[in-house]
Amino acid sequence: METQLDTNNSRSKWIGTSNRGFAVQAVEELRRLFTGLKFSYLMPAEVFMFDVPMAKEEALEIINRDMPMFLRHLQPVDHEIERAAVDGDQQDTEGQDEIASEDASNHVDLKALAQLLAEQYTFEAGEKVTVQVRKSEGIPMAYSVASIRETADRVLHEKIEAETVVRGADRIISIYVVEDMMFIGVSRPQENVSDWSGGAIRFRKEDGQVSRAKFKLLEAEYVFSLDFTQYRSAVDLGAAPGGWTSLLLERGLDVTAVDTGTMDPALMKNPKLKFIRKNASSVKLAEHGFDLMVCDMSWHPKQTAGLLKDLLHALKYGGTVIVTVKLMNKKAFQTVRDFVRILEPELQLQGAKQLFHNREELTLFLMKK
Ligand SMILES: C[S@@+](CC[C@H](N)C(=O)[O-])C[C@H]1O[C@@H](n2cnc3c(N)ncnc32)[C@H](O)[C@@H]1O
Repeated sequence: METQLDTNNSRSKWIGTSNRGFAVQAVEELRRLFTGLKFSYLMPAEVFMFDVPMAKEEALEIINRDMPMFLRHLQPVDHEIERAAVDGDQQDTEGQDEIASEDASNHVDLKALAQLLAEQYTFEAGEKVTVQVRKSEGIPMAYSVASIRETADRVLHEKIEAETVVRGADRIISIYVVEDMMFIGVSRPQENVSDWSGGAIRFRKEDGQVSRAKFKLLEAEYVFSLDFTQYRSAVDLGAAPGGWTSLLLERGLDVTAVDTGTMDPALMKNPKLKFIRKNASSVKLAEHGFDLMVCDMSWHPKQTAGLLKDLLHALKYGGTVIVTVKLMNKKAFQTVRDFVRILEPELQLQGAKQLFHNREELTLFLMKK
């Protein structure tokens, strides 16, 4: 039943995930990296399978050297299991785990999965392993996603004595289920673009959190490997109601927030916050006063770039800029190129990523030369 993939190392097979609606851009970026790339959708506009004429390690090296902006997650496909057809009355609808796990573990697909994991993979005793299972929306299943994970966990414990963990794994087993197949791959977390399942990074919403926008800056800090506690003073352009400002204050920075709107009253009591209620285009900022400039204005990208250019004198040399760039008509590459070109004399692009918390936008990380 299981189909062993071509192991002569001449091709490798992958599942890529982007934010919904941006798979075209992710595939386009991958095509620029690999000639001879073949792809097909597993979930329209979001999850796709591709294969390249290159071994796993070599392909990873190329992707890591030139990380695609729209690739949110990557998993290798080492093995495929053909799934048994589902009877109409057995179907497990989305989000419902009606079939008890004891019954599910006898299912032919799960037995095949257990056998494959036990026979094909070796883990060291005590190695920390996370099992991440995803499925395409709306596909018929005679067992739940949870029972797939339980099956894999059981094999890891019983046969391999590996330790299963939720976060901080040494290796990740990724399982992706479509109507007729199950795709399995093992990788190190850093090889998956994101170590979160499907790149869907989840932060816990706090009591009294000012805005969901805070998650965008939190994610940018994580994705670009920044540590805001290392900065001293920031200017936040388009700061209201204050999600980004609240994070920077929590990290111990002095923050100057600029907005025509109002900030959350709870923040206004913070002595480290200076709020300037003004149009950002007419604000006057001191020369080299900040080591961090953040901007989340939802403006046309050319206007945002122009605004940053006018205010860059306020940033110290070597200072950091984090900016959300709105994608106009999905012309993503052109938008980023034009944006960076406007700022290039003074700033150097360090990273560009459509974050999980970005919608019709992406986030850039730049440094002042
Ligand atoms: C997406 S919201 C920012 C959310 C914010 N990052 C947070 O975490 O709460 C965009 C903000 O830009 C502000 N804005 C738009 N045009 C502006 C302008 N010309 N000057 C100052 N602020 C402006 C809006 O008032 C709005 O509060």
